[in-house]
Amino acid sequence: MTRHHRTTPRLARILGSLLLVAAAGVLTSGAAPAPRPAAAGALDQVVPAPASVRPGGSPYRITERTGIRVDGSREVRRVGEYLAEVLRPSTGYRLPVTTHGGGIRLRIAEGPYGAEGYRLDSGPRGVTITAGAPAGLFHGVQTLRQLLPAAVERDSAQPGPWLVAGGTVEDSPRYAWRGAMLDVSRHFFGVDRVKRYIDQLALYKFNKLHLHLSDDQGWRIAVDSWPRLTTYGGSTQVGGGPGGFYTKADYREIVRHAASRHLEVVPEIDMPGHTNAALASYAELNCDGVAPPLYTGTAVGFSSLCVDKEVTYDFVDDVIRELAALTPGRYLHIGGDEAHSTPHEDYVRFMDRVQPVVAEYGKTVIGWHQLTGAHPAKGALAQYWGLDGTSPQEKEQVAAAARNGTGLILSPADRIYLDMKYDASTPLGLSWAGYVDVRRSYDWDPGAYLPGVPASAVRGVEAPLWSETLETSAHIEYMAFPRVAGVAELGWSPAAAHDWDAYRVRLAAQGPRWEALGIGYHRAPQVPWPAG
Ligand code: ACM
Repeated sequence: MTRHHRTTPRLARILGSLLLVAAAGVLTSGAAPAPRPAAAGALDQVVPAPASVRPGGSPYRITERTGIRVDGSREVRRVGEYLAEVLRPSTGYRLPVTTHGGGIRLRIAEGPYGAEGYRLDSGPRGVTITAGAPAGLFHGVQTLRQLLPAAVERDSAQPGPWLVAGGTVEDSPRYAWRGAMLDVSRHFFGVDRVKRYIDQLALYKFNKLHLHLSDDQGWRIAVDSWPRLTTYGGSTQVGGGPGGFYTKADYREIVRHAASRHLEVVPEIDMPGHTNAALASYAELNCDGVAPPLYTGTAVGFSSLCVDKEVTYDFVDDVIRELAALTPGRYLHIGGDEAHSTPHEDYVRFMDRVQPVVAEYGKTVIGWHQLTGAHPAKGALAQYWGLDGTSPQEKEQVAAAARNGTGLILSPADRIYLDMKYDASTPLGLSWAGYVDVRRSYDWDPGAYLPGVPASAVRGVEAPLWSETLETSAHIEYMAFPRVAGVAELGWSPAAAHDWDAYRVRLAAQGPRWEALGIGYHRAPQVPWPAG
């Protein structure tokens, strides 16, 4: 979507900083003095903003003699190998991963790090990342990437130099849930496209990938006991294309790749509505015993599993059992949104029967926030996707559930639905929740968003990307970038660090990184991007 100029990286960087300053001046003329972009790789330029940054001292320079030192554990070595894979193509250095020597050191130690926090110390003798667990080291590695020039992300040798600014970063996340959702049902995205998105999310310290695996237009995950779900129910998509589905091996590969990037996959089977693909595949799942045709449009709310039929619960049990067996993570999402063709009392009865099945197979229920209109199971999470204009009654229903122990994941549609158009000129996406520009998606506080919700009930944020209008990785990237970085910051950074004027300058510095990674982002006019 965006143009990729291929000037030499060094020249591009110099031109980029000049034009960045110029652009910042133009965009803020008449307002306060333009925020000046810090030098590439400064400690205070990282997205999401770290909890604490103390710049100082001389930088560390990565050279052909630099090694990556890890301790003996396999998981730490894996983080070291991952870092080496990021750095080797662009630096051209060997960067051996060993248990001695040094330069860059990854170490596990006792400390105030929590499950995902880390400390990064950089000085002339080396860079050390310390954490209490491999996930913290992995997040520290993402910070280190951003301290290096954007060209480090290129997949061919670049001139360098590879300087890491001196100083100390001490960092840990505000929220344990920092998610992104991909709708692979409306249009199917194959394993490689999903892996590419996972790699991009990892750069911003996301830790959950929610896959919307079934909907009216397609069933995307193999279920051995109900094979027509995929062979027939997965055979099309919005617009009538060929669709597709994940075999169990495909799905395990996605889960494995996500785990290597410290993301947990959260699978969703949406029910009792959004089920036309299943109803089309098996006539017996329909109350009238007649299978409807496959559906390739974009309407919602017209399908429902048959709440009164016993076979419905055999079906649900089989699907949840097989999906739980593929899921090392703790959660299983059962949808529950837009069940407009299911009478309310049936919806409540259905959820009363289905939630215990999730528990029986060892998983914790997540539902869209309509689940709070039924009886959310103990420990269940509700994913709020309302708008500013959602009725006070509906908001209070969610808040009451939160006060009663239901944890909340916040995905307000008019803030962080990444499929909403940025503005009227956006060529992709929808606008039923309004336009969502970059500032709007960033400039709100998850901790104070819903009235009457105790702050402790908010587990974090998640950015859904629905795919009615999206078919390719380029489409995903154009809608996700830059907004997904703001969601990462809402999930990770302390509330006190929230500041749009400072954020948009840090965000601008990500542009060259995305260009180096081949990410075609939306060059939103609110952000003082360097010339691209
Ligand atoms: C939803 O957007 N129907 C969760």
